[in-house]
Amino acid sequence: MSRVIAPTDLAAAGPGPAVPQHVAIIMDGNGRWATARHLPRTAGHERGVEALRRTVEAAGDLGIRYLTVFSFSTENWRRPAAEVSTLFSLLKTYVQLDLARLKREGVRIRVIGERGGLPPDIASLVSMAEAETRDNARFNLTIAFNYGSRDEIARAASAFARDVADGKCSADIREADFARYLDTSGLPDPDLMVRTSGEYRISNFLLWQAAYAELVFLDVLWPDFGRAQLEEALRRYAERERRYGAVSPGAG
Ligand code: IPE
Ligand code: IPE
Ligand code: MG
Repeated sequence: MSRVIAPTDLAAAGPGPAVPQHVAIIMDGNGRWATARHLPRTAGHERGVEALRRTVEAAGDLGIRYLTVFSFSTENWRRPAAEVSTLFSLLKTYVQLDLARLKREGVRIRVIGERGGLPPDIASLVSMAEAETRDNARFNLTIAFNYGSRDEIARAASAFARDVADGKCSADIREADFARYLDTSGLPDPDLMVRTSGEYRISNFLLWQAAYAELVFLDVLWPDFGRAQLEEALRRYAERERRYGAVSPGAG
């Protein structure tokens, strides 16, 4: 046996605990929520921020330690400029309005994605929020903004190639070493990935990290998401058997 996946790379192999340590959410359906109410799509995004606040609070109460939310994808630049601009302003006001409370509540904030593509005021606000909450350990909120998993993997490969060229490491890289070049370095892999709005795809979110995540798709539109919907996702997660390629303990 050579180069098998070390069990340590797959966190707790075998049946996992009933509550996932790390939940990733693709927050989808804001536009449809607004359109159904004859409102502009941006109204759906505004209500989506309320859903995020409810979800962060509920996740902490339910014993989840890491929550990673998909907020703006590298592909979302294809949307009308006015909608893109609303999404950027909402990130900015969320950080401005909620940072003090999140910091007090022991939340560590991280933002993953291509930082160079953010306007300088937002990039510095985000860096400040990360620095201000760096010592918090009760709960980890990671916001994927201007994030695309293929972009992340390509950036990681570039950074790795530079380190090899600079003689800082060998080209014979292993999984765990490569993972350190990803934006999610330091975060455990998600145990559960939830997508709202009834779409069955992952739209370039955490492709590497979600290798063994349990997937739960819910019909609810993101602005209607809250504690009850998170609990439903956790119930479905608890029914799964995580095998990581092995066989069930009871199999003959
Ligand atoms: C999710 O809602 C928010 C982002 C992708 C930025 P959408 O805006 O995608 O809503 P739908 O899918 O059009 O309903
Ligand atoms: C995924 O939703 C991205 C975010 C939730 C930020 P999209 O609405 O952009 O995904 P597609 O286009 O339906 O795949
Ligand atoms: Mg969508």
